[in-house]
Amino acid sequence: MKPKTMMIHSGITGDEKTGAVSVPIYQVSTYQQPKAGEHTGYEYSRTANPTRTALETVIRDLEGGASGYAFGSGMAAITAVMMLFNSGDHIVMTDDVYGGTYRVITKVLNRIGINATFVDTSDPEAVKKAILPETKAVYIETPTNPLLKMTDLKAVGRITKEANILMIVDNTFLTPYFQKPIEHGADIVLHSATKYLGGHSDVVGGLVVTATEALGEELHFVQNSTGGILGPQDSWLLMRGMKTLGLRMEAHHQNAQKIAEFLKQHPAITRVFYPGLSSHPGHELAKTQATGFGGMISFDIGKEENVDTFLSQLNLFTIAESLGAVESLISVPARMTHASIPKDRREALGITDGLIRISVGIEDIDDLLHDIKQGLDALTNG
Ligand SMILES: Cc1ncc(COP(=O)(O)O)c(C=O)c1O
Repeated sequence: MKPKTMMIHSGITGDEKTGAVSVPIYQVSTYQQPKAGEHTGYEYSRTANPTRTALETVIRDLEGGASGYAFGSGMAAITAVMMLFNSGDHIVMTDDVYGGTYRVITKVLNRIGINATFVDTSDPEAVKKAILPETKAVYIETPTNPLLKMTDLKAVGRITKEANILMIVDNTFLTPYFQKPIEHGADIVLHSATKYLGGHSDVVGGLVVTATEALGEELHFVQNSTGGILGPQDSWLLMRGMKTLGLRMEAHHQNAQKIAEFLKQHPAITRVFYPGLSSHPGHELAKTQATGFGGMISFDIGKEENVDTFLSQLNLFTIAESLGAVESLISVPARMTHASIPKDRREALGITDGLIRISVGIEDIDDLLHDIKQGLDALTNG
């Protein structure tokens, strides 16, 4: 089955009892047991819920893995994955990883003895060098947030296989429609489903897919033990969003490519980060491991004073955290998503105070270009 068909037909669709074509929302916590101690596959909704199972099956199939799991947020999903490790274990992580991921590892998981070294995973040699005897996983975001750096998944996959450790990929930015990390050697793929998978800024959720059933069982044990599950209403909303994932991703990508090309030639912009630009250092790699470049662009408008002038001119780009929805959003990473990363570290990574990140929506491209253009005109004319 091709991905766009899978989005509609994969997993458990409809309802056998009534013929309803949409999976019912099983708003239920417990299930009648035919005999004490025997159940029909569902006994308590923390352990499993049919609406959640349907969602977990769709993401499993889209990522081409063995098992899927749905959590109450991307951070709950990431934390559950980290709970596969023990005190004393070490993880090698992408250096400009999402700020919340950096925070949970450096301020929460460190308290229970799980620590990380942050390296530029776009350099496989740096990954190799950072692996210690106690390293249990390499955790990658590609492209990264907000600088859109690309990591060679196959190269890191070879390193993790050789070291007999796990490769974990946060696939939030490209989604399985454009990138399937398990095909390149990942053992675990995870998502902030709040973003493109949901796609409508109306649900917070996290999804995880494991490449093997054995890993899936370990993760289900953590999920059931710690309880950070996604509820049935939100599972249904996510599934509804995912039915149009293919169409939306194509539209995000097409709009983003045009906006990136426009920004690239604009005199008010000092740097543009978008993997679809041939000038982007990860462009060739992106073409080999992904089928699209996504809808995220970052660009530098120089001085911090320019930021508020530019933002105040925009009508279609909403200033907000988050990304990946039908409407275009704009953020200032240093003040917003990455504010929890210390300033000196941010600067070392290239996340300057004038860096702007846009999540390009699926509005008409002419309107989006017009909005950006008049915002930038305020800088060049001011
Ligand atoms: C790449 C990435 N991973 C994980 C997360 C965390 O997900 P959530 O906000 O759903 O907890 C985010 C949130 O912005 C993200 O951008």
